[in-house]
Amino acid sequence: MRANLVSPSSSQLSYAIREIVAFGEVVRRHGVDVTWENIGDPIAKGEKVVPWIRDIVHEVVELEDSWGYCPTEGFMAAREALAEHVNNRSGARVEPKDIIFFNGVADAVAKVYGFLSAHARVIGPSPAYSTHSSAESAHCALPHITYDLDPENGWMPDIADLRRKIESYPSIAGILIINPNNPTGAVYPPEILEQIVALAREFGLFIIADEIYIHMVFPGCNTVHLSEIATDVPALVMRGISKELPWPGSRCGWLEVLNRDCDQNFSAYVDTVVAAKRLEVCSTSGPQLTVPRIFGDPRYSGHLEQRAAMFAARGEEAYQALSAVPGLKINRAQGAFYMTAVFEPGVLDGVNRLPVANPELSDIVERQCVGAALDYRFVYHLLASTGICVVPLSGFCSPHPGFRFTLLETDDEKRRWIFKTMAEAVTAYIESGSK
Ligand SMILES: Cc1ncc(COP(=O)(O)O)c(C=O)c1O
Repeated sequence: MRANLVSPSSSQLSYAIREIVAFGEVVRRHGVDVTWENIGDPIAKGEKVVPWIRDIVHEVVELEDSWGYCPTEGFMAAREALAEHVNNRSGARVEPKDIIFFNGVADAVAKVYGFLSAHARVIGPSPAYSTHSSAESAHCALPHITYDLDPENGWMPDIADLRRKIESYPSIAGILIINPNNPTGAVYPPEILEQIVALAREFGLFIIADEIYIHMVFPGCNTVHLSEIATDVPALVMRGISKELPWPGSRCGWLEVLNRDCDQNFSAYVDTVVAAKRLEVCSTSGPQLTVPRIFGDPRYSGHLEQRAAMFAARGEEAYQALSAVPGLKINRAQGAFYMTAVFEPGVLDGVNRLPVANPELSDIVERQCVGAALDYRFVYHLLASTGICVVPLSGFCSPHPGFRFTLLETDDEKRRWIFKTMAEAVTAYIESGSK
């Protein structure tokens, strides 16, 4: 080639959640029935969207508007309804112009980091969610800067670590919060969020809050929308319907822009994000039209409560199955539908194994493990030995070896089998080591 075609950012793009699928397919081709525990897609795991939501989607299909393009930022009626939802709570006030639709939160993520100056960094949590960490890292072709979520403290953000990093990297211009959190399942109480907002205020930073799971907080767990406490700090809140209807195939999400008028530079940046969106015309039209109808339906709050209770019960099942396993540390999930288990320091030594019935597959696993991180080794063995496909925690920018699994399996018996089999596999894997 006359010029190098490969972007310097190419090495920063990774998505462990889907990368493991390639190895899962190899395992499947060797006769193992694979249970996909890697992807947060409730539909793929058998959840059926409730009839009344399906009816609304059918009605929207009959609207001519759902077949055409829509304005770049989205239909005004949908934006007005979402602005009203924000304003019905106390805290920051928004106008319809502060609601901007995207093709899912992932599209918003791509634009928000992709059109941020390469000199301005956004610090994000570790464990990270790869869509954010990769996009942030790619925008400047540098490794993502992270603050710790502490497994010894229910995966809460380590505020002292966050402050230290903000002080030592003057290029940090923004803080990412994912609440409820993927991959840990933690939910942040208002006091933690207030401390992060206070740091943003003190250092003149903006906040990105991914709240795609905000309607999936388990009973008894307390949190707030960022808009309820961030009244004077510029922020971009990311919301969507992939998880809560659930309708991931809608590719529909939106930004709530908070406190835009507080800072001209932030406001100009938001204009750039919208200009970038304009180049691709607009986001999916039909799903946008369903949002005000579904959110405004009196059945919606009951729907959300029922799902939150369902995932809470499944989280408890997983906790009961895995919390007593020696060498494994697990926290109860408080929201979303993921849990993350961490191997205690020193229990993995690089020689641990699980039996793999097929000798050819056993050789493939051995080769796959050469040079692999300790938790990747476990994940490869678990997959080949039991068919259960989870995601290694080090794939989420984490120094802790562990793995993430979901609470999505709809078949009760199968779900209990998954948790029990994972517990037995971890025990056998740790015991097979030399320590
Ligand atoms: C924290 C988080 N943000 C964003 C997304 C992607 O959302 P969307 O389907 O709206 O693109 C996911 C998907 O798993 C997620 O877990």
